[in-house]
Amino acid sequence: ATQGFNHLPGAVVGDQNITARIGKPLVLNCRGAPKKPPQQLEWKLNTGRTEAWKVLSPQGGPWDSVARVLPNGSLLLPAVEIQDEGTFRCRATSRNGKETRSTYQVRVYQIPGKPEIVDPVSELVTGVPNKVGTCLSEGGYPAGTLNWHWDGKPLIPDGKGISVQEETRRHPETGLFTLQSVLTVTPTLGGAPHPTVSCSFSPDLPRHGALYTDPIQLSVWEPVPPELQLVVEPEGGIVAPGGTVTLTCETPAQSSLQIHWIKDGMPLPLPPNPVLLLSEVRPQDQGAYSCVATHPRHGPLESHAIHVHIIETEEGSTAGSVEGQGLGMVALALGILGGLGIAALLIGATKWQRQRRRGEQRKAPENEEEEEEHEELNQSEEPEAAEGSAAGP
Ligand SMILES: *[C@@H]1O[C@H](CO)[C@@H](O)[C@H](O)[C@H]1NC(C)=O
Ligand SMILES: *[C@@H]1O[C@H](CO)[C@@H](O)[C@H](O)[C@H]1NC(C)=O
Repeated sequence: ATQGFNHLPGAVVGDQNITARIGKPLVLNCRGAPKKPPQQLEWKLNTGRTEAWKVLSPQGGPWDSVARVLPNGSLLLPAVEIQDEGTFRCRATSRNGKETRSTYQVRVYQIPGKPEIVDPVSELVTGVPNKVGTCLSEGGYPAGTLNWHWDGKPLIPDGKGISVQEETRRHPETGLFTLQSVLTVTPTLGGAPHPTVSCSFSPDLPRHGALYTDPIQLSVWEPVPPELQLVVEPEGGIVAPGGTVTLTCETPAQSSLQIHWIKDGMPLPLPPNPVLLLSEVRPQDQGAYSCVATHPRHGPLESHAIHVHIIETEEGSTAGSVEGQGLGMVALALGILGGLGIAALLIGATKWQRQRRRGEQRKAPENEEEEEEHEELNQSEEPEAAEGSAAGP
């Protein structure tokens, strides 16, 4: 309907949002109306009190206590109520016959009293849910919201460590809202020992700031210092060179401790992380590892140490044989490059070695594969030495 005005020639569209405080007078001006009678104007309204559009008679009547047209053409609502929320329109014709329409969307509000925390506790215990208190805001409109703050930071309910139970009630006569919010927290281990908690009411209105309760000061009681458990993967901390070791520092659930790492008594310059990943380990990664956390109440906490050993395991020797083959290939390439003479010499030497070894292999057949490889490798580089080692055992 408002848009229709745009297409009327000579009509000035004045669509305005008004927020009026409950119980206070409100004056809406009829734009374009002559300041004094005789006037040609019409006020109509569609609010919580009307079923549809209601045209107000300029002569007054039963609606006078709700809204009446003033001599200057403005509309006065002596005391705004929730039922007065709605649309108000005036159509005025000036002395020279120009028509002007004004439209007002009226919303009402009431700022509640300062919210308060009722039944606050003074001491919380870590690791278990504690009811902190009930935040109460009475007499606001529209409903608005309650929010909790922990050391100045908003507490976002996560259903685990922080939970909030909210209830909204409406006064049967005034229609004003009562909000209540019960805060339950499970304080984290190692958190602030003396947090400050407050609650705020945020009105659902533009340009209106939040109202805060007086803060409450809490003491968080931590029965025992938390323990840090250090777990190593692979188990036993034994790894082949080039392998990966994962050290995990396990802190109790709901802990906010920051974990640093120590190797052989020296702090590792790494950002705090409960997991230490050593990948492609080298001999210098070997050592004793432990994790530490600085606890605000109990001081530094350190886990037991775990030793990481870098050892050629069975997997390591497989790697060794791959390396051997690689060198064999290099040797072969060198042989080709070196010319037929050297190649012939190598082949001859190899044949000779193999024939020689066949005799020995009868003594130790189980080592056949491994020995052959080692010999080929050594031989191709230094046939003399290979001969010696082959003859050795
Ligand atoms: C009035 O409020 C409505 C929402 O309630 C908004 O969409 C509109 O833009 C506002 N109009 C003006 C003129 O501020
Ligand atoms: C009309 O009179 C009322 C009350 O005296 C005043 O608040 C309002 O601003 C006046 N309207 C105009 C358009 O002057």
